[in-house]
Amino acid sequence: MSMAASNQPAAASDAGIVLSGSGLSRSFGGVHAVVDMSFELQQNSITGLIGPNGAGKSTLFNLVSGVDRPKQGTVIFNGQDVSGLDAYKRARLGMIRTFQLSREFGRLTVLENLMLSPQLQLGEQLLPLFLRPAAVKAADREVFQRACEVLKISRLETLKDEYAANLSGGQKKLLELARTLMIDCDVILLDEPGAGVNPALMSTLTDMIVDLNRNHGKTFFIVEHDMDMVARLCDPVIVMAEGSKLIEGSFDVIREDKRVIEAYLGGSLDG
Ligand SMILES: Nc1ncnc2c1ncn2[C@@H]1O[C@H](COP(=O)(O)OP(=O)(O)O)[C@@H](O)[C@H]1O
Ligand SMILES: [Mg+2]
Repeated sequence: MSMAASNQPAAASDAGIVLSGSGLSRSFGGVHAVVDMSFELQQNSITGLIGPNGAGKSTLFNLVSGVDRPKQGTVIFNGQDVSGLDAYKRARLGMIRTFQLSREFGRLTVLENLMLSPQLQLGEQLLPLFLRPAAVKAADREVFQRACEVLKISRLETLKDEYAANLSGGQKKLLELARTLMIDCDVILLDEPGAGVNPALMSTLTDMIVDLNRNHGKTFFIVEHDMDMVARLCDPVIVMAEGSKLIEGSFDVIREDKRVIEAYLGGSLDG
């Protein structure tokens, strides 16, 4: 979004770093979920975030996107300290995370989900869902046109009138990603986009992410367990263990690293 750039002194973003966290910590009772975690995301990268279950990946995403607040640490987006901002304000500045389709949204069609997405992401009052047909009629022509473009980009055109509840797991993931595109954003955070996605849709999803990255300038930060997907998409890959960064590098480098293998308790990364 131009808003983000115009607020900043030129020097703030000259390193090509679009998003960073430093010294982030978050505990739940006695559980240190994220501990003094720092990272930097290069503009236009697809940065992976992997690590064993419970490593703190989702908690970190919550801190970065503003869904949750750290006990300590800061988040800088396009040179601006956004640590104190709610998720919808960060979305307005151009940083968006996907969230799962809630039950209510299952009762809307794919097209309707897209058309309501900006309101949802930007924290505006949602029109009551029982006003569904009216909501869509009243929506901006501009929003409709954008939704049509997004349907094309996300290969959901033929499903536009399908109720979201009827979509397969993989199609739901495509829709979740598609909803983020309804807003003009720079950075998209995806928490396990490949979970529950069948192999055919997996390549559609991967292609869509590559297309958005190469042709639409989107930077991605992706938590993913599917190592084939990580290998295909992500460079660099950040490995988290016990709340902190263990190592960062290309997939080929981190997969050979002893500490990474140990962190996965002898499990293989090929899997
Ligand atoms: N809301 C919460 N309340 C209590 N504990 C939590 C909460 N969220 C996460 N945790 C704990 O924090 C640790 C990190 O969790 P999480 O960030 O979900 O890990 P990951 O996404 O890497 O699997 C885990 O021990 C988890 O049980
Ligand atoms: Mg998680």
